[in-house]
Amino acid sequence: MSLPPVIAIDGPTASGKGTVASLVAQKLGFHYLDSGALYRLVALASEKQGIDSKNGPELGLLIPKLLISFSNHQIFLNGEEVTDTIRTENIGLRASVVAVHPEVRLALVDLQRSFRQSPGLVADGRDMGSVIFPDAVLKVFLTATASARAERRYKQLIAKGISAKLSDLLQDLQERDARDSSRGAAPLIIAKDAKVLETSDLSIDQAVKTVLDCYQSSIA
Ligand code: CDP
Repeated sequence: MSLPPVIAIDGPTASGKGTVASLVAQKLGFHYLDSGALYRLVALASEKQGIDSKNGPELGLLIPKLLISFSNHQIFLNGEEVTDTIRTENIGLRASVVAVHPEVRLALVDLQRSFRQSPGLVADGRDMGSVIFPDAVLKVFLTATASARAERRYKQLIAKGISAKLSDLLQDLQERDARDSSRGAAPLIIAKDAKVLETSDLSIDQAVKTVLDCYQSSIA
């Protein structure tokens, strides 16, 4: 029996992947995997436990001990609701540091693949199409200019009541882009069979429609 279809949506920080991927999943009635949330959870848990973000082996050993659950748009870590706690810039930066370690990436592979359930999955991250779901029926690389992304992130944070400075956000995301693209293990790359979607001048609805159209043609 063939496995349920996967739509992989990868791209740099604040490219709109999360919003687009969850809306595509909703339209298709598919499951949704926010893989970045897993790296953010590892960042938070290791910070709480005083584990050095540079210690790959120790971080790798921590992961199987974590109790992670996603339920009704809420995220729980060891029974505690951490949905907003993991969204800070500080945790995002720490996530990109812990995500460099092969031990961390390996420890999260099976958990990510377990989200592939009927009738299908939309997965967003950095290596969904290149490493985790290389057989995805559609691979999209969603991107936008650094300034468009910084502005989006700024609006997101302000809307949540979190204070932010545009110039700091731009600097943070450029730092994160550089680390995600240059790491040895599963770097942020455009999978060779991916469709690149530049969203600087697209609305969310237009981006969602483009992905849905591509999906329909890929299964036609
Ligand atoms: O929200 P944003 O796009 O900034 O980040 P995220 O998707 O929540 O991911 C946080 C960090 O986790 C990224 O900067 C990456 O370093 C890392 N990550 C990864 O390495 N691989 C993934 N599949 C997803 C996230």
